[in-house]
Formats: sequence, structure tokens, C-alpha cells
Amino acid sequence: MSAKESILRNVEVEDDGVLDNSIRPEVLEEYIGQEDVKENIKVFIEAAKIRGEVLDHVLLYGPPGLGKTTLAYIIANEMNASIKTASGPSIEKSGDLAAILSTLEAGDVLFIDEIHRMPKFIEEILYPAMEDFTLDIIVGSDGNSRNIKIDLPPFTLVGATTRAGDLTSPLRDRFGIIAKLQFYKEDELKRIIKRSAHVLNTKISDAAAIELARRSRGTPRIANRLLKRVRDFALVNNNSIIDEDITRHALDRLKVDKLGLDDIDHQLLLTIINKFNGGPVGVDAISSTIGEEVGTIEDVYEPYLLQQGFIKRTTRGRIVTELGYQAMGIDYPTN
Ligand SMILES: Nc1ncnc2c1ncn2[C@@H]1O[C@H](COP(=O)(O)OP(=O)(O)O)[C@@H](O)[C@H]1O
Ligand SMILES: [Mg+2]
Repeated sequence: MSAKESILRNVEVEDDGVLDNSIRPEVLEEYIGQEDVKENIKVFIEAAKIRGEVLDHVLLYGPPGLGKTTLAYIIANEMNASIKTASGPSIEKSGDLAAILSTLEAGDVLFIDEIHRMPKFIEEILYPAMEDFTLDIIVGSDGNSRNIKIDLPPFTLVGATTRAGDLTSPLRDRFGIIAKLQFYKEDELKRIIKRSAHVLNTKISDAAAIELARRSRGTPRIANRLLKRVRDFALVNNNSIIDEDITRHALDRLKVDKLGLDDIDHQLLLTIINKFNGGPVGVDAISSTIGEEVGTIEDVYEPYLLQQGFIKRTTRGRIVTELGYQAMGIDYPTN
């Protein structure tokens, strides 16, 4: 594999593999939920097509598993464009980004996943590329270096990030469309689960789909993963359909509680409650106590706990709310 190919490699190496690609919706119509985002993007795509121009650059942000990568592929598909993919951390030198940009053809979508992890000094190459479709590079070295400008074909950059706050504002400002993905509602997740079950050729009862939806942390990736595991339990148990009983049994075995919280959510809440009197406590202290990285706590675990109102962020650190105590079955201290 050449360096260029390795940079352009498909970034989808997430845990779900081949099966995951088969249940990924490919058109906007099949993308469930995120109604506001979907409506807007639909209009922008239509307008771009009417004008015969490329779609403006799009920034998608939100916690992992909510459908950023899926949406990037759908955007390319709906624009009848080819998609080229890269990920922030794999772009280490300015030359890496220049190499990617110089492979673009007119109308292409360039998807950069985890764009917040691209080194800041490389971002500067993106500015003129995004604004004027030009590539400004320095060739040669030392006394003999000079600037050259290369025209790029019009393209659409789709960036995805779990942390919009980590992008520098000059980069953020160059995206014409910024969309924040939200956690999914129970009934949306239920529809996603039913759709996935159908694609996987598996029968699931309504009650089981609702139970799964309720316990999926508002996240399609988790819903699909749990569906696959529950399907395993049903198969080994000789059930021809996934029903509520086998779903409950499987989820209990997988240590997903009634609220959809997993082991690490529990550790996080219980650490704040038991070791730090309910907080406030800094994320670093939580991190070293439960042995999860700060970034993982902030990007993966906290957003859902915050959204559910189980924890709160204050200037002095995180606190567990009364709801959070309730979720853990612990009495809220009255003083
Ligand atoms: N709106 C949606 N409708 C149906 N399935 C979805 C939706 N969003 C995500 N998924 C499913 O969830 C999985 C994870 O989505 P992905 O796009 O990889 O999330 P992200 O890139 O935000 O981490 C995908 O395999 C896809 O099948
Ligand atoms: Mg992704």
C-alpha cells in the first residue's frame, strides 16, 4: 500500500465490521431521526444541485455512534459524488494533507473523521483549500524554497468531530453548514432496531424492540450492537423471534441496566458518590480512580449522563444530581 493509499484508507475500523456496513442506511430517506439536521441538509443538497455547484462544507459533531460517518456517506451519495476519506490523526505532515487534496476530482466529498485531532499547523493548508479551492504549498528547502499555488477542483469537505470545541475558530468558521447530532428518542431507536433486524433477517417483537431502544443510551451504534448480541442469545436458546424475555435476559447478562447504563457509567457515578461525596470533583480525579482516559470520559460517557440529568458540570467539577443518586438506588444526602 502506498503512503497515499494508507492515508486514504477507509477509516471504518470500528468494532462492528462487515455487518455494520450492511445495516448502514445509504440515503437520507432511510436515515432515521435527527429531523432538523436532515431537513436542512436536504434543502442545502437540493439547492446545490439546482445551482450546479458543490455543497458547502459540512461539519458534523456529536458523541460517538450517533451517525456522523453514516451521514457523511449519505451526503456524498445524495450529491452523486465520490467520497474520499481520511482521519485527523492519520494526517501528520502538511504533505499528507496536500497529497489527499491533490487526489480530489470535481464534486468529490472529502470526509475527514476526527478532524479535531488533525495537528493545528496543518489546518492552515485547509483554509485556502476550503475558501478558494487552492492549495498553497512551499516547495524546496532552506534558501531555495518558494510558494506555489495550485488550483483544486471544487469539492465538499465533510468534517466529523466529537468535540466541536476543540476546533480552532478559523477552521470552524469555514464550514458553511454546522450540524449537531442529538441523542435519539426511544421511538427513533425502536425504528432503527426494527430496520436493522429486518436487514439482518431476524424477527423481533415490538415489545423487545422498545426494551432494546430504552436501554441503548440514545445511540444507534449501541442499539445495533445490543441487537446483534440479543440475537445470539435468541439463536442459542432456539427462539425463532427475539421477544421481551430473551431481550431482558441478554441485557442483564451483558450488564446493561434498566436505564441503559453500563459498567463504566456505574463506576463513574458511584465513584463520584462514594469517593467524592457526590462532587464536585475534577474529571482528572475521576479518570485516575476508574482508570478510563479523560477524553473517553468526556466524549463517550459524560454526554449521555449529562443529557439524562444524572450529572452536572459546574466550574468546580462534576456533581451527581438527585436523579443520578436515584439511578444508582442510593438516597440523596439531605444536607
Ligand atoms: N439515523 C440513523 N438511522 C439508522 N441507523 C443509524 C443512524 N445513525 C447511525 N446509525 C447506525 O449506527 C451505526 C453507527 O453510526 P456512525 O455513523 O458510525 O456513527 P458516528 O460516526 O457518529 O460514530 C451505523 O452503523 C449505522 O448503521
Ligand atoms: Mg464515525
